[in-house]
Amino acid sequence: MKAICLEKPGQFNLIDLSEPAKPGPGEALVRVHRVGICGTDISGFLGKMPFYSYPRIPGHELGVEVIEVGAGVTNVAPGDRCSVEPYMNCQKCSACLRGSGNCCKNLQVLGVHTDGGLRPRFILPARKLHPSKKLALEQLALVETLAIGCHAVDRVKPQAGEHALVIGAGPIGLSAIEFLKLANVRITVLDLNQKRLDFCRDTMGVDYTILPDGSGSELKALDQITGGGLPTIVVDATGSVKSMNNAFNYVEHTGRLVFVGIVTADVSFADPLFHRREMTLFASRNALPNDFGRIIKLIEDGRIDTRPWITHHCNFDSLVGEFTSYTKPETGVIKAIVEV
Ligand SMILES: NC(=O)c1ccc[n+]([C@@H]2O[C@H](COP(=O)([O-])OP(=O)(O)OC[C@H]3O[C@@H](n4cnc5c(N)ncnc54)[C@H](O)[C@@H]3O)[C@@H](O)[C@H]2O)c1
Ligand SMILES: [Zn+2]
Ligand SMILES: [Zn+2]
Repeated sequence: MKAICLEKPGQFNLIDLSEPAKPGPGEALVRVHRVGICGTDISGFLGKMPFYSYPRIPGHELGVEVIEVGAGVTNVAPGDRCSVEPYMNCQKCSACLRGSGNCCKNLQVLGVHTDGGLRPRFILPARKLHPSKKLALEQLALVETLAIGCHAVDRVKPQAGEHALVIGAGPIGLSAIEFLKLANVRITVLDLNQKRLDFCRDTMGVDYTILPDGSGSELKALDQITGGGLPTIVVDATGSVKSMNNAFNYVEHTGRLVFVGIVTADVSFADPLFHRREMTLFASRNALPNDFGRIIKLIEDGRIDTRPWITHHCNFDSLVGEFTSYTKPETGVIKAIVEV
């Protein structure tokens, strides 16, 4: 069978792989149907992802079908369509033992540290599969993206009626917006890309959007939006260190700031600002197993609809040619889905 492999930054190759063996105890053999392309894949392609190693078969946002299960597997059966939780955790380290497998000390993320889903068939631990009888394979592929926002929002424990600012309206910012909406929070989105802000207002039903003009006028806008103050929740989903350094200025007294976007640079902030306002700063990494089941249910019940996010489609053979265009925001891409 053929697989798509990122040989080194900027170079994909179609490679030949032998068929996987039979699934062992606790494992499942899956057929990959849909793969979402995400910022992590783009960073890997551009050589900007610190954790990435090459050569690598990318693909961690997956909609799969179970073909065969090994001994002792009870959560899925052949024919089940599933979303995949791509965080391979050791189940032994202190983080795993505390129930935080999302930040396992030996974490291996599919398609980043170990080979992912841009291949027709492979074997996975069955416990990482989350089935749905109702969702389309494309919807299942988007569950992981949503899980990132779900976990980030859970970190700050929003209360109904609070004001939240989401900085960065890419897929990760959008996924955070979905869960802030479910928490009945008043949402403002700030981005440098007017098209993405329009999408937030027109399609996501976000209350307020801000395109910063470089003069600091966004502080005045936030003051007006919140009725004299600042948001008590700020989510930075930009992947920009400039934005992350600046985000402290947008947090109300005793507010919470969560970094879901990731950078390789040092973040810095003025301690007097941080202390005067008695802020809390959170990091958010990946998501928890229960988030997957919760999200599947929310999509099944029609409470989250990610279909408008999918702006681009391609197939296995056209991906390599199309991929460069997905790295360019001016093409209007939000989420591209590959049919395997
Ligand atoms: N925490 C996690 O587990 C996790 C998982 C996946 C991705 N991520 C990270 O989340 C971040 C966002 O991912 P994405 O796929 O949505 O990226 P994206 O590039 O599609 O979106 C980022 C958005 O931020 C905006 N932006 C950039 N600089 C800005 C600034 N200074 N002010 C305002 N807006 C600005 C861009 O215009 C863009 O719309 C990345 O850093 C990615 O690595 C984190
Ligand atoms: Zn992703
Ligand atoms: Zn662990």
